[in-house]
Amino acid sequence: MENDFETLIESFIKDNVGIADHFINHPLAQHLKQNLLTLLAENKLMAAGTGNQQTILMDQSIRSDSIYWLDRNHHNVYEDEFFDLIDDFVKYLNRSCFAGITSYEFHYSLYEQGSYYQKHLDQFKNNTSRKYSMISYLNDDWVEADGGQLRIYQNYNNKTINPTEGKTVFFKSNELAHEVLVTNQRRMSITGWLKRD
Ligand code: OGA
Ligand code: NI
Repeated sequence: MENDFETLIESFIKDNVGIADHFINHPLAQHLKQNLLTLLAENKLMAAGTGNQQTILMDQSIRSDSIYWLDRNHHNVYEDEFFDLIDDFVKYLNRSCFAGITSYEFHYSLYEQGSYYQKHLDQFKNNTSRKYSMISYLNDDWVEADGGQLRIYQNYNNKTINPTEGKTVFFKSNELAHEVLVTNQRRMSITGWLKRD
């Protein structure tokens, strides 16, 4: 586990974009994906907005995914297992990089075929508490032609990342503009932010 933390942090330090291919183990990824499919079947996913409560802007022309927030109060064993992993990672990050993270928030995301998220930054204009963005993918059998890549923009060093199962991507929320390219398959993930309040 600490190996995956190292992989994520070392690649982040080297490249500004951390990538660990197997941050979420296969059984956990499968269970979280099943949770998401159950939420979909129960009609519990909501169209995602952009902006926070003060400036909520529902704009399906900017993003067309649907979301559901994870919460320890759900007493779902797989959400708890995910949060336990994140707790360990935050401890590791705070110890090794003095990141000073004090809280976090994560939601499931589901992009149906044809969905996307246009180029944006993850930090709100009126609230800068989101320090790091962290996205974990739940898609087994993903191939290049399925699209839905995460594209991260950096001068001369753009990255195009396939959303394959277990992979986690980590970067600074206020620095790197990024987008989700149109997906040709249903695309599932858990997206969140490590915060300093
Ligand atoms: C986001 C986002 C990227 C992805 O939800 O803010 O940029 O790959 N997601 O799902
Ligand atoms: Ni984003």
